[in-house]
Amino acid sequence: MSGRLNGKIAIITGAGSRGPGLGNGKATAILFAREGAKVFCVDQMKERAEETVGAIRAEGGEATAHAADVTRAAECAAMVRAAVDRWGGVDILHNNVGIESRKGLLDTTEEEWDRVIAVDLKSMFLATQAAVPAMTRRGAGAVICVSSIAGLRGYGRTAYATAKAGVIGFVRSVAVQLGPKGIRVNAIAPGPVWTPMVQDLGSEARERRRRASPLGTEGTGWDIGWGAVYLASDEARWVTGQTLIIDAGLTVTTPEGSLGASQ
Ligand SMILES: NC(=O)c1ccc[n+]([C@@H]2O[C@H](COP(=O)([O-])OP(=O)(O)OC[C@H]3O[C@@H](n4cnc5c(N)ncnc54)[C@H](O)[C@@H]3O)[C@@H](O)[C@H]2O)c1
Repeated sequence: MSGRLNGKIAIITGAGSRGPGLGNGKATAILFAREGAKVFCVDQMKERAEETVGAIRAEGGEATAHAADVTRAAECAAMVRAAVDRWGGVDILHNNVGIESRKGLLDTTEEEWDRVIAVDLKSMFLATQAAVPAMTRRGAGAVICVSSIAGLRGYGRTAYATAKAGVIGFVRSVAVQLGPKGIRVNAIAPGPVWTPMVQDLGSEARERRRRASPLGTEGTGWDIGWGAVYLASDEARWVTGQTLIIDAGLTVTTPEGSLGASQ
């Protein structure tokens, strides 16, 4: 690895994986560590964060696990305090936490709506609000929020799509406010990557998701993690307020798909 994050201190929320395999947060945590960052792995289920920390330490990287529910302001504040106490500051906040709701408008209960908006959107507001004073003290920082292509296109899963579109609005709003402090804020919009979050969809859906994009290959947590490495690194020093779509080209397809003009 090239040490693109050497000396950086990174907080990753949802750094565990909900099941066997590799989620976006876990893959990102491992890549950040391989690139030289100290990684503060946060998950509401501490054993999941500890598993990621174990994988990082097994490779010789530096990481620590912390339990927090990032839908709560006090726990976000405690999370940032703990990272600063341990390593002296925060350079990167990767807001990865997210849960899916697969229901449409008429089937979504008020409770489900509130839960999805809290986990997928409010958590990013609370964690960013908590981390910014520490980044301001260092005169620089990078915040990355995981959205989804569901927030960019018409998508029937109402609460999820709304929260993920909200993440993109949040990133733009905060980027213009934090630019003068040297803090960059960007989003990643993953396409249908194959992670533990969606494994219950089954093999038929897996194949359909793979075939849907122009590249026709399956995306994984690593693909999202590499995007996060770029946005977190100084190589992205002139990039803020953007949404990096990582989807094998799915969002640029048309109903004609791959049929060329000549066909
Ligand atoms: N898999 C896909 O196809 C896909 C597509 C687009 C976007 N995404 C996004 O990627 C992210 C999911 O990444 P993942 O693969 O790491 O998921 P994951 O479910 O494997 O891991 C997320 C972790 O977050 C933790 N978590 C959930 N709520 C929390 C809370 N309130 N506080 C602290 N931790 C909490 C869970 O315990 C879990 O370990 C989400 O934001 C999701 O919307 C995924």
